[in-house]
Amino acid sequence: MTPQLPGATWIIGCGKMAGAMVAGWQRAGVDFSEALAVRPSGNPVEGIRTLQRLSKMGGKPRLVLLGVKPQKLDEVAPTLAKHLNKNTILVSILAGVEIASLRARFPQAGQIVRVMPNLPVSEGRGVVALTGGDGAIDALFGLLGTVVRTDSEADLAAVGSLAGAGPAYVARFIAALAKAGVERGLAPETADRIALETVLGTAAMASASGETMASIAVRVASPNGTTQAGLEILDQELDQLVSRTIAAASRRGQELAEAARIDSPRSLA
Ligand SMILES: NC(=O)c1ccc[n+]([C@@H]2O[C@H](COP(=O)([O-])OP(=O)(O)OC[C@H]3O[C@@H](n4cnc5c(N)ncnc54)[C@H](OP(=O)(O)O)[C@@H]3O)[C@@H](O)[C@H]2O)c1
Repeated sequence: MTPQLPGATWIIGCGKMAGAMVAGWQRAGVDFSEALAVRPSGNPVEGIRTLQRLSKMGGKPRLVLLGVKPQKLDEVAPTLAKHLNKNTILVSILAGVEIASLRARFPQAGQIVRVMPNLPVSEGRGVVALTGGDGAIDALFGLLGTVVRTDSEADLAAVGSLAGAGPAYVARFIAALAKAGVERGLAPETADRIALETVLGTAAMASASGETMASIAVRVASPNGTTQAGLEILDQELDQLVSRTIAAASRRGQELAEAARIDSPRSLA
C-alpha cells in the first residue's frame, strides 16, 4: 500500500522544490485532500488547497513541510511556531539551516527532520538525503526515489552538495555537450536530443549493470582512438573543476548555516 501523509499537512512555501516533491508524491498516489499549501503569489498548487498567507491557516498540523528559501525563514517562523505542538513533524528542505536553528525557532515542534531532496523527485527518480526524527515518515520519502539517511548534518550537507545541486551541474554538462554538437554543424534540436539521450543511456547502462564509470570510459576509448584524444583534454580539468564547483556550493551552505544560527550577527539574506 502507498504510504500516506500522517494527518493534516501544511506546505509552507511550495515553489520549485516543494512543488516537485508534491508532484512526485501525487504521481505515486499520495492523497493531498487534507493538505494546505501557502504561496504568497497566489499561484495555485495543482490538487492542493492553496492560501496566500500563513496567518489565514487555523488548527494544528500533524506534518509541516517547510519549503521557503532560507532567507524567508524568519518571516514565517513566528506565525508558524504558534500552530506546532509535540505531535507535529516538522520537515525542512532549507539548504544549510541546521536542526538546532530550527529547534530554536520551533521549540514546540515534535520531531524535526532535515531533508535534502533534488528536483527529479517529481519523476520518482530523486535522491533524498535526510537526518533527524525517528524514521516514521521515511517511507513517504521512499516514494520520491533513493533515500539516504545520514547520521550527521555534515553528511547531509555532503549528500546535498552532490545530489541537491547535482541536476544543475548535469544540466550544464548536457548543454555543453549539445553546444559542442552545434559547433560541429548539428541543428540545435538534434544536438540537444543527442546530448540528453547520451547521458540518459550512459546512466541507464551503468545503473543496470553496476559497471564503474572508469570501466565504461575504457570500453568507449580505444587506445589512440578518437575518444582517447578527447579524454586527454577533458581529464586535464574536469575533476578539479567539479571539485571547485562543489566546494563553492558547500561554502555557501556553511554561510547559510551560520546566518541561520539564532545568535548569529549575520543576516540570512
Ligand atoms: N531548487 C532546488 O533544486 C532545491 C534543492 C534542495 C533544496 N532546496 C531548498 O528548497 C527551498 C525552496 O527553494 P526553491 O528552489 O523551491 O525556491 P522557490 O521556487 O522560490 O520556492 C520558495 C517558495 O516559498 C514561498 N514563499 C515565499 N515567501 C513566503 C512566505 N512569507 N510565506 C510562505 N511561503 C513563502 C514562495 O511562494 P510563491 O510560489 O508564491 O512565490 C515559493 O512557493 C530552499 O530553502 C532551498 O534551499 C532547493
